[in-house]
Amino acid sequence: MGFSRKIALVLALCMAILHFSHEDEQSCNQPEDYSINAHSGIRRVLSAAPSTGTTSQQAILDAHNKVRKEIPSLEPMTWNATVAKFAEEYASERKKDCALQHSDTQIYGENIATGAGKMTILDAINMWCSEKDNYDYETNTCGPGKACGHYTQVIWKNSTTVGCALSHCVKNDGIFIICNYYPPGNYIDTKPY
Ligand SMILES: *[C@@H]1O[C@H](CO)[C@@H](O)[C@H](O)[C@H]1NC(C)=O
Ligand SMILES: *[C@@H]1O[C@H](CO)[C@@H](O)[C@H](O)[C@H]1NC(C)=O
Repeated sequence: MGFSRKIALVLALCMAILHFSHEDEQSCNQPEDYSINAHSGIRRVLSAAPSTGTTSQQAILDAHNKVRKEIPSLEPMTWNATVAKFAEEYASERKKDCALQHSDTQIYGENIATGAGKMTILDAINMWCSEKDNYDYETNTCGPGKACGHYTQVIWKNSTTVGCALSHCVKNDGIFIICNYYPPGNYIDTKPY
C-alpha cells in the first residue's frame, strides 16, 4: 500500500470516528477508547478499565447513606480504595460474559447487577434499595418469596466501607456492576434479578 493511500485510509477512519461520535453524543477528545463495529457503527470499548462510570464516589456514598440514615443507629459508609480495587478486578473478570455471578469472596459483602446501555451504578443501588419494601425489621426476614438481601447488605450495621465498579462487557452493550462492602454483614444475597 502506498504512503498516500495509507494517509487517505487514516483520514477516512478519522472521519468515520467523528461521524459516529456525534451520533453517539461523544467527542473525539474524550479519553475513551472505541471499537468500530461494522453492523452498528461505533461502540464503547471493551478495553476501558472498570471504574465507577458516570457515577461519582460521592454519589455512590450518598445513595447508600440516604438509606442508612433511615435507621438511626447506623454510621454512614465511607469509600474504601482497597475494596474498590477488588470490585474493579472482579468487574474486569466479568467483562467477558456479563454473567450475573458473584465472586467467591469471603472477606467482603457483595451486591451485583447486570444491565445494558447506559445503566449506572446509581441505578443499581436504587434498584437494590427498592427491596426495602420486602423487608421486615421486626423479624429480620424478607417477605415470603421476596428478595431483600441487596437492601440488607446496604443497611448492615458493620458494613461501613464500600467500593464499587462498573464494566462494559464484550457482548450486547452489557454492563456489569458490583459493590463490595467491608466488613461484610450477613450474606443472604441469593436471589439475582
Ligand atoms: C478497607 O478494607 C480493608 C479490607 O480490604 C480493611 O483492611 C481496611 O481496614 C478498610 N478500611 C477502613 C477505613 O475500614
Ligand atoms: C460487628 O462488629 C462488632 C464490633 O466490631 C463485632 O463485635 C460483631 O461481631 C460484628 N458483627 C458481625 C455480624 O460481623
